[in-house]
Amino acid sequence: MVMGLLAKFILISLLQTPLHHPNGTLQQLPQIIIIGVRKGGTRALIEMLSLHSAVVAAQNEVHFFDWESHFQKGLPWYLSQMPYAFPEQLTVEKTPAYFTSAKVPKRIYQMNPNIKLLLILRDPTERVLSDYTQVFYNRLQKHKRYQPIESVLVKDGEINLGYKALNRSLYYVHMQNWLQYFPLESILVVDGDRLIKDPLPEMKKVERFLKLEPQINASNFYFNKTKGFYCLRDHGRERCLHDSKGRAHPHVAPAILQKLYKFFHQPNKKFFELVGRTFNWK
Ligand code: A3P
Repeated sequence: MVMGLLAKFILISLLQTPLHHPNGTLQQLPQIIIIGVRKGGTRALIEMLSLHSAVVAAQNEVHFFDWESHFQKGLPWYLSQMPYAFPEQLTVEKTPAYFTSAKVPKRIYQMNPNIKLLLILRDPTERVLSDYTQVFYNRLQKHKRYQPIESVLVKDGEINLGYKALNRSLYYVHMQNWLQYFPLESILVVDGDRLIKDPLPEMKKVERFLKLEPQINASNFYFNKTKGFYCLRDHGRERCLHDSKGRAHPHVAPAILQKLYKFFHQPNKKFFELVGRTFNWK
């Protein structure tokens, strides 16, 4: 009992004593988390948000709330994964797997019920193709066998419900878990399809949601014809996202694509009802 109290006291003291760096920066728990969705454009979003001088982003996906081995290390470990920031700056981390992990909303809520959450979504069919493409390249790199897309999407002539990537695109299922803990006002749904085509208006919405002084502007983006995507300009330095972002997707027979669009029709409708807005998904 005494030991338990002592441990709790030490934990709270640790978290309240930020880890200071001599230049006045410190590590702080994130006030913003990009919770997903995998292949939604999470890297683009965190990089674009980092253009703002009041935001500092964790470089890697932390997987604190979804991986037991990390979660058991406790908040001091989570804190130690955060970048150094000036006290007036906001810290953001992104772990796209949070969105589809049912235990995560409660855990984040317990850390900070007032945290701001960013969720970037794409057309669910497009997201499935992107998900497949990522796994395809990972397996290729490891010299592992891979199945053609059509054989994972369809089984016995029907959509293969056992394919995990399909489940990740059932946005309403996962959103329901989040809305049990967080009000809609705490979650900004960023339109990932729009962020690809024209990043600035989406980023202005993000700035407003986070109550940041407007700073991100048109000169921060330029379209790179070779990449086929917008790239970033930060204090004159130009950079595109890694080659693994923006890869061509495999060709899928139109009949299977139609089946997929149809499959997502009802789930999408449920999602639109949940969040009180619609998206331009096929
Ligand atoms: P594809 O590679 O399938 O096109 P995540 O970072 O969550 O893994 O998402 C990856 C997706 O981000 C890419 O999927 C790509 O479409 C999208 N994206 C959005 N803006 C981008 C940008 N400016 N440059 C590259 N990819 C971008």
